[in-house]
Amino acid sequence: MLLKDKNIVITGSGRGIGREIAKACAKEGANIGITSRTFEELKETKERIKNINPDVKVSLKTADITNYSEVEELFNYFHNELGELNGVIANAGASGRYDTHKFTPEKFAFIMDVNVDGVFYTFKAAYDLLKKDDKNDKARFIITGSAAYPNAMPRFTAYTASKYAVVGFQRAVALEYRRENINFNTVLPTMVDTQLLRGDKAGDGNAGPGIMDPEELSKYYIFLLSEHANRTSDELIFVNEFEQLYDIIKETSEENKKDWDTFKNYLQESQQNVYDNIRKQWKLAEFLLKLHK
Ligand SMILES: NC(=O)c1ccc[n+]([C@@H]2O[C@H](COP(=O)([O-])OP(=O)(O)OC[C@H]3O[C@@H](n4cnc5c(N)ncnc54)[C@H](OP(=O)(O)O)[C@@H]3O)[C@@H](O)[C@H]2O)c1
Repeated sequence: MLLKDKNIVITGSGRGIGREIAKACAKEGANIGITSRTFEELKETKERIKNINPDVKVSLKTADITNYSEVEELFNYFHNELGELNGVIANAGASGRYDTHKFTPEKFAFIMDVNVDGVFYTFKAAYDLLKKDDKNDKARFIITGSAAYPNAMPRFTAYTASKYAVVGFQRAVALEYRRENINFNTVLPTMVDTQLLRGDKAGDGNAGPGIMDPEELSKYYIFLLSEHANRTSDELIFVNEFEQLYDIIKETSEENKKDWDTFKNYLQESQQNVYDNIRKQWKLAEFLLKLHK
């Protein structure tokens, strides 16, 4: 188990990507704090976690991520229930599609509040409660960004702006806290079959090509939370690039993927462009190779 006895809090874990991360972390032995605004969805997430691993602790509390006093109370609650936090995933998010001149100021502000202020509030409330005393086992702060950075999406102006903003947020905090034992990283998915992308049709089996199942995303978060990423910080994980790599791993003969060096040489020779994209994040590439075995 990669996360045995770690304490991980995931915002936006009532459904979609956050729920799948929560399940995957529990499978790896972590105790989980789950939160969103909708109690019924959190109850369902808790039940699914317990079906996967009845031995982990699951702490559940509703909060509006745009209300700082609620977020502060939320993290104090998780800290009391679970203890010091090893990892926090700022994943809650909202979107909306309008011609930009027709965006109401309220709707625009709401998306920015959830996606930007929500990330800041999550960090601010969690900071003192993170376990930061061990340079060999650093605390993790992970943001769910989006491939809307850097591929801007017309009519999703607030969403695009918010996802650019959180990359700036990461860059700033990674520099500011570089002498402390916290790693900051962002996962940037493209299209994922959730309510945010497909409304009530999410999970209906007709998502179409290029749309990922949220479950498939969890491996990126597990990597970032695991000991394999203890020295990985201020990275942007472009999911598309690594999914392309993962597909190649699956299709490669056993002989060419028997260890990282063999696979690296094979990839360099056969798909130089893919290799160039993932080269700097080879730790993650190696993790995916091991995961597939
Ligand atoms: N789906 C995609 O294609 C895609 C692609 C790239 C990035 N992402 C990112 O992935 C993250 C998760 O989104 P998802 O796709 O899993 O969407 P989702 O299924 O709609 O889940 C969003 C989660 O965030 C919570 N949330 C929203 N507003 C909140 C608020 N004010 N306070 C507290 N919690 C709030 C929601 O719960 P409540 O509404 O009950 O509060 C829900 O649990 C987001 O940051 C999103 O931008 C998604």
